[in-house]
Amino acid sequence: MPRPITALLDPQALRHNLSVLRQRAPHAKLCAVVKANAYGHGIERVWEGLRGADALALLDLNEAERVRASGWRGPIWLLEGVFEPRDLETCSRLGLWHTVHCDEQIDALSRHKTQEPHRVFLKLNSGMNRLGFGANRYRSAWARLQALTQVDEISHMTHFSDADGEPGVAAQLEVFEQATRDLAGERSLANSAALLRHPEAHGDWVRPGIALYGSSPDHPSHGLDHWGLQPVMSLRAQVIAVQSLQAGDTVGYGSTFVAPQAMRIGILACGYADGYPRHAPTGTPVLVEGQRSRTLGRVSMDMLAVDLSAYPSAGVGSEVTLWGRASTGAVLAVDEVAAAAGTLGYELLCALSPRVPVQVI
Ligand SMILES: Cc1ncc(COP(=O)(O)O)c(C=O)c1O
Repeated sequence: MPRPITALLDPQALRHNLSVLRQRAPHAKLCAVVKANAYGHGIERVWEGLRGADALALLDLNEAERVRASGWRGPIWLLEGVFEPRDLETCSRLGLWHTVHCDEQIDALSRHKTQEPHRVFLKLNSGMNRLGFGANRYRSAWARLQALTQVDEISHMTHFSDADGEPGVAAQLEVFEQATRDLAGERSLANSAALLRHPEAHGDWVRPGIALYGSSPDHPSHGLDHWGLQPVMSLRAQVIAVQSLQAGDTVGYGSTFVAPQAMRIGILACGYADGYPRHAPTGTPVLVEGQRSRTLGRVSMDMLAVDLSAYPSAGVGSEVTLWGRASTGAVLAVDEVAAAAGTLGYELLCALSPRVPVQVI
């Protein structure tokens, strides 16, 4: 028997989230972000659920090849563009749209031989200072692209640093509007947080990632319920052993948890080698047979301990949901677990270990 741990993926939840996001941005086209192997879910497993998207966005050419091989015929957008000149050949062959964020990418395009001109998204650095041309260089980059026979459509894009909280998007939006004023072409600005929180920044193309997978982009300000999103990934494991502790007994490496009184604990087949965060402290929420409980002590490589004191009927074989939906239907948002461990839902989903069996339901 395999270790009793499974990540269940729910394509229905993916379709639901996609339709929620569409309703929130009814006038924009929707490009579903599937980079990082669809945020840890597996591109091949999820793309069917995203069939209703207008385009898919990712970073790696190898992921673009996989998306095409899966049967996706719609547009694919390389969000960071090409990394070296010969990547442009793959763009021509697969018909990829690509971001252009630096002079070197324009130089490479100008030398690229292609029958089919490319659609590109010129990226403005509106304040995040990762990728893109500054506002003072944006128009000259646009004019260079405009002169190339290798390019047939130039769209405009930027990315927000603070769409999920303060100070918001107003300043970057203003920079974007100034820099792109009266330039022809479609506009794309919004990630999940901007899509949900800033309708004024929807533009022509929204680019949600995390919200599609059922994690709130602005937790703890708003949770999944507030946005009407459903978890796509549920990580469930079973209790493989039960211990009865006396007051003063300790749990796990470093003896960091000391039982204040007699209690029952369950040991789960889930540890940090499965992708569960090692930094999750005592008290991180879990669902024992759909009811809330907590972790105890340090997470080890292959196991962790949970409190069964309130659930006398739970024992070896009981289901424990680490995040997502329990078989009872109860939900524990990945964002809550991430917050307890000092990280984000993004990191936990992306970190699901390849050793965890995945089942699409
Ligand atoms: C350029 C760009 N657009 C869109 C997204 C999607 O962001 P999110 O997952 O927060 O919706 C990302 C993700 O980091 C990104 O880098």
